[in-house]
Amino acid sequence: MDLGLAGKVALITASSKGLGRACAEEFVKEGARVVICARRPDELARTAQEIRSLAGQGTDVHTVTADVTRPDDVTRLINATLSRFNQLDILVTNAGGPPPGRFLDLSEEDWRSGIDSTLWPVIRLIRISLPHLAKAKERGGGRIINIQSTSVKQPIKGLLLSNAIRPAVIGLAKTLARELAGEGITVNNVCPGSMNTDRLKSILEKRATEGAKSLEEVSAQAVEEIPLGRHGSPEELAALVVFLASKRASYITGQTINADGGLVDGLFG
Ligand SMILES: NC(=O)c1ccc[n+]([C@@H]2O[C@H](COP(=O)([O-])OP(=O)(O)OC[C@H]3O[C@@H](n4cnc5c(N)ncnc54)[C@H](OP(=O)(O)O)[C@@H]3O)[C@@H](O)[C@H]2O)c1
Repeated sequence: MDLGLAGKVALITASSKGLGRACAEEFVKEGARVVICARRPDELARTAQEIRSLAGQGTDVHTVTADVTRPDDVTRLINATLSRFNQLDILVTNAGGPPPGRFLDLSEEDWRSGIDSTLWPVIRLIRISLPHLAKAKERGGGRIINIQSTSVKQPIKGLLLSNAIRPAVIGLAKTLARELAGEGITVNNVCPGSMNTDRLKSILEKRATEGAKSLEEVSAQAVEEIPLGRHGSPEELAALVVFLASKRASYITGQTINADGGLVDGLFG
């Protein structure tokens, strides 16, 4: 299938590892030019080098050290993307995810930082990218894809901030899908279930500590709830993201799609 991504410019935030990195790799394999960002410059530079060596030294991977919870960094990130490539076709919003916790564990500051890391980056990234994504209309249309979580379909035990704050992004995206359709921009969300990344490992480690169990035990317990019987790989989420960014997904907007091995159990999940 020709995804029509060759030469497109994709900005993927929070992408030195995990799901963001997997997306960057898939875009590069499709011939897109990518901008990746993270807070730690060393790991970011190493990742860029690894992606280049995977796809060939001619590959365009631009790095920007940025913290997406900081408004100035978001502005600088978009400006750097435009200075380097002079266009922006695809925005994949991703961030580190709010810390785990139950209601009684969370302070007001936890709530504030949860909103700062989960909702505000999406709002700011989209707001600043919009005029540039609108210019992509002449090249087949801009794309916004938000990496969220199955917590927006089915609350996850012990992840209250994710359960409570991420649905706001879904409401934002659904509204924007209508508001931006005339600009030729599609807006969709993807919901990873349980994908093998460092973040998953740290969540399982916390559950293991709280339940006085081994990491292997809690991991096996989590897998029992997944109909496909395993955790997913970051590449399995990236395949969905890249498809939604492609010309083959030109009629799909306002959707919230899981890559979860069947985990969410609902007719409209
Ligand atoms: N993995 C899963 O199963 C799963 C399931 C549902 C939802 N999610 C969500 O998907 C997102 C990505 O998760 P992941 O598993 O890929 O995490 P990960 O493996 O821990 O990777 C997180 C990446 O984001 C960067 N990052 C974190 N905070 C950032 C910030 N404020 N500004 C810029 N970059 C930042 C990190 O680099 P630096 O630390 O250097 O900044 C790193 O590159 C999270 O929101 C997570 O909650 C994941």
